[in-house]
Amino acid sequence: MQATATDSKTGGRSKLSVSGATKIYQTKTGTVHALEDVSVDVREGEFLCIIGPSGCGKTTLLWSMAGLHPLTRGRIAIDGDPITKPHPQIAMIFQDANLLPWRNLEKNIELPFELKGTKPDRERIDRLLDRVGLVGFGNKHPRELSGGMQQRASIVRSLAVDPSVLLMDEPFGALDAFTRDEMNLLIQEIWMETGKTIAFVTHSIPEAIFLADRIVVMSARPGRIASIYEVDIPRPRPVSIQTEPDFIARVMEIKTRIDSQRGQEFDHSAVA
Ligand SMILES: Nc1ncnc2c1ncn2[C@@H]1O[C@H](COP(=O)(O)OP(=O)(O)OP(=O)(O)O)[C@@H](O)[C@H]1O
Ligand SMILES: [Mg+2]
Repeated sequence: MQATATDSKTGGRSKLSVSGATKIYQTKTGTVHALEDVSVDVREGEFLCIIGPSGCGKTTLLWSMAGLHPLTRGRIAIDGDPITKPHPQIAMIFQDANLLPWRNLEKNIELPFELKGTKPDRERIDRLLDRVGLVGFGNKHPRELSGGMQQRASIVRSLAVDPSVLLMDEPFGALDAFTRDEMNLLIQEIWMETGKTIAFVTHSIPEAIFLADRIVVMSARPGRIASIYEVDIPRPRPVSIQTEPDFIARVMEIKTRIDSQRGQEFDHSAVA
C-alpha cells in the first residue's frame, strides 16, 4: 500500500489508495490510453472531487475504484486490501438514477439486500427516506417521480447497505440548476452527518468547490493528475457562497488549471 497520507486538517488516514493506475482499453479499432500513472489517496471521511476535460478518464478511474473493471497497471486498495471486484464497502451512484422501472421505490431500494441475500434494514431505510424527503413515496414507480426524486432514491439505495465509501459519477449532471443546488446541500448534510468517504466526479467547477475538501484536476487523455486543489472553506457551506468574490476567484483559478491542460502534453511543473 502507498504511504499513508496525513491530512493536516483532519489527521485522516488513507481509505482508498490509488497507485500508478493506468488503463489502456483494447478495442476492435485499436487501443485507447485512458489513464496514465494516476496516484491519489482518498482519505478517510474526505470529500474528494475529480474534474477534468471530457474523455480524460474520470469515469474509468471511478469504475476501477469500484472494482467494476481491471486496471492495465497499478493498484487500488481499500484499507490496504486490493480491489479486484465490487466491494461491499463501496457503493456507486451514476448520473442516471438507474432505478428499475417495473419496481416501486421501496422494492428498488431493497434490491441490494436481495442481491446480498440479507433482510432489508427497514429502520435504516425509513430513516434515510425521511432524511431525503421521500416519506410516503415508497409505493410509487420511478416514472411517477421527478429526476431529483429519483436521484434521491438512488442515494437512499446506496446508503441503505451502509457502505463506507461512496463513488459518485456526475450524479447531478442531468438535473436543473435549482434541483442541483438542493442536491448539493443534501449531499453536504449527509456527508457531514455520516462521515462517509466520497469520491465525486463532476464537470461543474462551482459544484466541486462547494462540495470538496480537495479537488483533483486531471489532464486531457491519457488522464493524469495535473494538480490537486485544497478547498479550505468552512462548512456547512451555504448555496449563496457561490456569489462571493472569494468563491468566484477559486472558480477562475481552477478553470485556468483545466484550460491549461486542454489539448496539451502533460506538464510536470503543473503538479501541485
Ligand atoms: N469500455 C471502453 N472501451 C473502450 N474505450 C473506452 C471505454 N470506456 C471509455 N473508453 C474511452 O476511454 C476514454 C476515457 O473515457 P471516460 O469515460 O473514462 O472519460 P470521462 O473523463 O469520464 O469523460 P466524460 O467527462 O465525457 O464523462 C475515452 O476516450 C473513452 O472513449
Ligand atoms: Mg464520465
